[in-house]
Amino acid sequence: MRHRSVGIFDSGVGGLTVFKEISCLLPGENLIYLGDTARVPYGTKSVETVCRYALEAAEFLVDKGVKLLVVACNTASAVALPSLRERFQLPVIGVIEPGARRAAQSKNRKVGVIGTEGTINSSRYPEAIRVLLPDAQITSAACPLFVPLAEEGWADHEVARLAAREYLQPLLASQVDTLVLGCTHYPLLRNTLSHVLGDSVVLVDSAEETAKSVQQLFQQQGLLNPQNGGQRTFFVTDVPTRFERVGRAFLGHNLGQVEQVQIG
Ligand code: DGL
Repeated sequence: MRHRSVGIFDSGVGGLTVFKEISCLLPGENLIYLGDTARVPYGTKSVETVCRYALEAAEFLVDKGVKLLVVACNTASAVALPSLRERFQLPVIGVIEPGARRAAQSKNRKVGVIGTEGTINSSRYPEAIRVLLPDAQITSAACPLFVPLAEEGWADHEVARLAAREYLQPLLASQVDTLVLGCTHYPLLRNTLSHVLGDSVVLVDSAEETAKSVQQLFQQQGLLNPQNGGQRTFFVTDVPTRFERVGRAFLGHNLGQVEQVQIG
């Protein structure tokens, strides 16, 4: 069991932020990543559609015999986690609970959450934070333009700062001391977000927190792969060209072979 792979999926390239953190923290694990690039974005789609896509992506990875399923996509984690846990017999980790656990450490109990429309409309982050910090004051904002800006390589560009000033206005007004980056792409905008909110606001990177949760689970269940240098395998549902290019910028190195597959 310990030698089996970890399956990670996202709507596209963004989940590579989660992949990267898991890869750094657990270098011995074999990782299989699926980006559903033919159907990205999930963030603007209905709950029913995202659930269907997530089940099909998960099925593909489960068929590869993975020991754990990581739902790297915030939108899919927000709406599809219960269906995935019901359908499959293996552990399923999403990005919401790990991010919420860190956010609940807020000192002034004023927390901001940003994400796609789907994630914000689901209210899953506020619900998960309030379980741990019942009197938290939570201000949420959908920031859809951050996704294309990150993919364009404009995360630190003046255009990104302008968009951030608009989107983060209500969060500045409510004086949050913690901001949850509730979308796969947002860790790339760290500098811009800190520039607008000020350095004292703690940015919660759900990707980092999720990697820690995976490590904890493997330690508790004796599932850590003891080998050195695990394999990394990438699958996408559309032609790989754009995924390879944007993915290189997200990971900071070439991805190697990326295979196109059909799911669903
Ligand atoms: N991966 C998605 C998320 O974290 C962002 C991109 C999309 O909308 O599919 O919510």
